[in-house]
Amino acid sequence: MIFSKAMNDALNKQIGNELFASFSYRQMAFELEELGLKIFSTRFHQQADEEHEHAMKMAKYIEDCGGHVKLGGIDAPKTGHGTCKAMAEAALESEKRVSRQIFDLMNLAESEKDHSTRSFLKWFVDEQVEEIASMSDLLQLVEMAGDGNLFLAEQRLSEMMKADPHG
Ligand SMILES: [Fe+2]
Ligand SMILES: [Fe+2]
Repeated sequence: MIFSKAMNDALNKQIGNELFASFSYRQMAFELEELGLKIFSTRFHQQADEEHEHAMKMAKYIEDCGGHVKLGGIDAPKTGHGTCKAMAEAALESEKRVSRQIFDLMNLAESEKDHSTRSFLKWFVDEQVEEIASMSDLLQLVEMAGDGNLFLAEQRLSEMMKADPHG
């Protein structure tokens, strides 16, 4: 194993955090669908898929390093957000929280002089910048549209997704 037991445990914990983020986006995707916001729903399903990929990417790294993947329980996601704005805000908060989690992991890797894990985590540090920017844009779009014009926000989001299919 090329990293410490503490690092292995911390990476396993982050797999759970990414899966929880995936679950939360999935729940919101269904709630958006119920609000009749099909494009927002599609965008959140796509984000749920991405968070799942992040978890798998971390699991593969653990295996590549000769460590052990150990999956734990996932908390139930928040339900009943009510509005599109509440969900866009929750998404941005979630990305900020994940960024802090990734920074904590990076701090551990640095304190252990674990260069492999530092290099691996750099992708996640950069990815979080993208995800915070993407969710900030989404929230701004919802705020600009206001409650009455969410169908215009859907149109705009649809164009944004065509221009940048990976969000
Ligand atoms: Fe993620
Ligand atoms: Fe994310």
